[in-house]
Amino acid sequence: MNIAVFCSGNGSNFQAIADAVKRGAIREASLALMVCDNPQAFALERAKKEGIKSLLVERKNFGAKAEYEAEIIKSLEQEKIDLICLAGYMRLISPEFAKKYKYRILNIHPALLPAFKGGQGIKDALDYGVKVTGVTVHFVDEEMDHGPIILQRSLYISQEDTEDSLAGQIHEIEHQLYPEAIKLYAQGKLQIEGRKVRIT
Ligand code: GRF
Repeated sequence: MNIAVFCSGNGSNFQAIADAVKRGAIREASLALMVCDNPQAFALERAKKEGIKSLLVERKNFGAKAEYEAEIIKSLEQEKIDLICLAGYMRLISPEFAKKYKYRILNIHPALLPAFKGGQGIKDALDYGVKVTGVTVHFVDEEMDHGPIILQRSLYISQEDTEDSLAGQIHEIEHQLYPEAIKLYAQGKLQIEGRKVRIT
């Protein structure tokens, strides 16, 4: 099974997935491609260092979103990608793209969905004053941060936590949870029944 990871920034989740594949923790999968929309992203350097092919596609070089996504799809088809993992990819995918790859796109979100959707899940949870937050890995559908949930893991927020300290703990969980979810997918262990994902 060939995986593509989509990134826009640091790429620590990309790294965690690459490391998991490298150490044989996801034997069924090979990390074939990293797609990136930001020329400044550290994720690009990580891919280079890991010897993983990367595709830099900048949105500003295309007119309609469909043209931008067509360029990405061309590479996904060339590399025979079976599964797309969004990992800090800061763009909304189009409904058409979501439909084309239905149940073949995963996302990781730094909060317990459906709470704190959007680009600032960690800060929003902290500012709201919740005592428990966490990480969600879910299938992607046409709505942002919405598709069926595969795995969630929670953590307590302490009174001393800052955005930085909380982000550190969240990322640590993410780096375990995303490879776990990918492994379940690659082993064919995820059965989708409406909004529910049964792990077989
Ligand atoms: C992660 O917190 C992820 O949950 C969110 O974006 C962040 C990406 O971090 N979607 P990184 O680029 O993988 O380090």
